[in-house]
Amino acid sequence: MLRAERSTTRRAGQRPRFARRATLCRSLRLLGSFRFEQTDPAVFYGGVATDTADLVGDFYRDLTGESLRGTIVLDVGGGPGYFADEFGRAGARYLPVEPDPSEMHAAGLRVAGSVRGSGMALPFRDDAVQICISSNVAEHVPQPWLMAAEMLRVTKPGGLMVFSYTVWLGPFGGHETGPWHYLGGEYAARRYRRKHGREPKNRFGRSLFAVRAADGLRWARDTPDDIEILAVFPRYHPRWAWWVVRVPGLRELLVSNLVVVATKRASALGEPTAEDAA
Ligand SMILES: C[S@@+](CC[C@H](N)C(=O)[O-])C[C@H]1O[C@@H](n2cnc3c(N)ncnc32)[C@H](O)[C@@H]1O
Repeated sequence: MLRAERSTTRRAGQRPRFARRATLCRSLRLLGSFRFEQTDPAVFYGGVATDTADLVGDFYRDLTGESLRGTIVLDVGGGPGYFADEFGRAGARYLPVEPDPSEMHAAGLRVAGSVRGSGMALPFRDDAVQICISSNVAEHVPQPWLMAAEMLRVTKPGGLMVFSYTVWLGPFGGHETGPWHYLGGEYAARRYRRKHGREPKNRFGRSLFAVRAADGLRWARDTPDDIEILAVFPRYHPRWAWWVVRVPGLRELLVSNLVVVATKRASALGEPTAEDAA
C-alpha cells in the first residue's frame, strides 16, 4: 500500500477543516451544476469556483492559521479565469497562467495580470508565491508530473500546493468522448469524429491523457523529503466516501477527481516561510 493511501491525511490525528464542508449536500449541488457546463458555463464554473476557493482557503488556514487575504494564488491552467472573482472576494491576488490564448479569452473575462505560459515550464522564479493550484489541468498535459514539480518549485517554503485532476477511468475521464473512453481513448476520439464530423476539443493523445488515481498517489509517495503531503482525497465526494482513494482498482472507477494537497517544508535553517514573506 502506498504511504499516501494509508490515510487521506498525513498529519496524524488532524482532520482537515475542509472535511467539514464535504457533505452529501455539497456533492449533490456540485453534481447538479455539472449539467450546465456546456449550456451555462457561468452557473457551472461559479459553483466550482466558490467551492475551490473554500477548499484552498481551508487548507491554507490549517497550514498557516491565516486566511487567503494578501496571498498570491497562482492558478496553473486557469483558462479564462473563472476563479478570479472568488479568490478576489477572499482578499487574494489571483494570477492565472494559461498557454492557450483562445481559452484565456473564452468567456470574455479580463483578469489583470493573466500570464501566458505552460505549467510544464512556469515563467516564475523559485519560491515565488504562497499558493499554487491547478484544477482539471493535469489530464490535458503530456507531462503532468513535470507540471506538479514546477508548481512545487514556484511555491514558497511553508506555502500550499493543490493539484486536482480528472481521473481517466472515472465517469468524466473521457470528457466529451465518454463513456466510449472505456473502450480506449483512440477509439473514443475516432467515434466522436465519425458522429460529429469534427475532432473532439479534448483529443486523446494530444490534449487529453490517461492519468490514473494511482499515478497521483505514486507521485505523492515519491515526492522529495522537503515536501509534505497534507491530504489526498476525491474532490467531489462527501467525507464519508473518501476511503475509495485507498482501494486499488475501485478508486480508478469511483474517484472521478483526485486532489493532492502538499506543502514545501521551511528549512531548518530558518528560511522564511510563506507567512513571513507575505
Ligand atoms: C478543463 S480546463 C480547466 C480550467 C480551470 N482550471 C477549471 O478548473 O475550470 C483545462 C485547462 O488547461 C489548460 N492547459 C492545457 N495544457 C496546459 C499546460 N501545458 N499548462 C497549463 N495549462 C494547460 C487548457 O488550455 C485549459 O484552459
